[in-house]
Amino acid sequence: MTVHDYPILIVGRLHAHAAARLREIFPVVQIDGPDVALVSEEDRQRIRGIVGTTDLKASSLDTAFAGAFPKLEIMSSFGVGYDHIDAGDMAKLGLVVTNTPDVLSGEVADTAVGLLLNTVRELPKAERWLREGNWITKGPYPLTRGTLRGRSVGIFGLGRIGLAIAHRLEAFGLPISYHNRRPVADIAYRYHASLTELAVAVDTLICVAPGDASTDKAINTEVLKALGSNGVFINVGRGSSVDEDALAQALADGTIMAAGLDVFAHEPHVPETLLNAENATLLPHVASASQATRQAMADLVVDNLIEWVERGRALTPVAE
Ligand code: DGY
Repeated sequence: MTVHDYPILIVGRLHAHAAARLREIFPVVQIDGPDVALVSEEDRQRIRGIVGTTDLKASSLDTAFAGAFPKLEIMSSFGVGYDHIDAGDMAKLGLVVTNTPDVLSGEVADTAVGLLLNTVRELPKAERWLREGNWITKGPYPLTRGTLRGRSVGIFGLGRIGLAIAHRLEAFGLPISYHNRRPVADIAYRYHASLTELAVAVDTLICVAPGDASTDKAINTEVLKALGSNGVFINVGRGSSVDEDALAQALADGTIMAAGLDVFAHEPHVPETLLNAENATLLPHVASASQATRQAMADLVVDNLIEWVERGRALTPVAE
């Protein structure tokens, strides 16, 4: 293992394996959040790379923050989504931004399918029923209104994770359509040019879209109405893509049937209206959270930095 005199700043809570590997290879400074005042002047002058995680709030690693580090070259982000970094502006500053794609696609897709099944068949409710001591004592468990049979699925954001979800759902015999900004080449799934058009065509909408200005509150009242009263909405993308007030209202008044959410607009805050929604299945942003996958993500964060320092290129730069 080569040790590098290339000081790295970790911002926020980082996976322990990544932090330990970074400390073996690089001089490391760690701060709790993106506040330049937490870094000494001496460290500011020598930091070359920054590592941030998806726990950080949207755009918190912005050009004002990056600009405080005159020798900064690279931001290596833990997570495939990088809405916490103003990546376009970083490119203008000549900084490289990397993320951790591919290594988590299977895990997130598995979770999305699990969340869909749990939401449609109300499995968390059934488990609660059993744990509360109910079986024959209360009569048979009430039949669920929902089933996966006969559903048609729309994927909002057909990238690597979206495709992995689509492949899994094909095995369930469900027809797949999608909406992206542009159609994907050589894909047989039906393309819809607008999200509302997609929602009209399907009854099960799965959001895997990245969080950015183009997707902000894209899941709104119009889309939820288009999805319809048998509609199920699943989100493993970003909470910012959803108008949460509109979603809570749609769940409460039966505009849609149910929702399964792994992500929220202002994490870790989960709106009371969603917490109280019996027809919502809620997870604390854990789609990629298996030990093996988080370790693979951690390794990619470190490997991107090593590749940059040793060979002047990144393994997985984001495209801006
Ligand atoms: C990501 O990598 O963007 C995920 O949301 C983290 O679980």
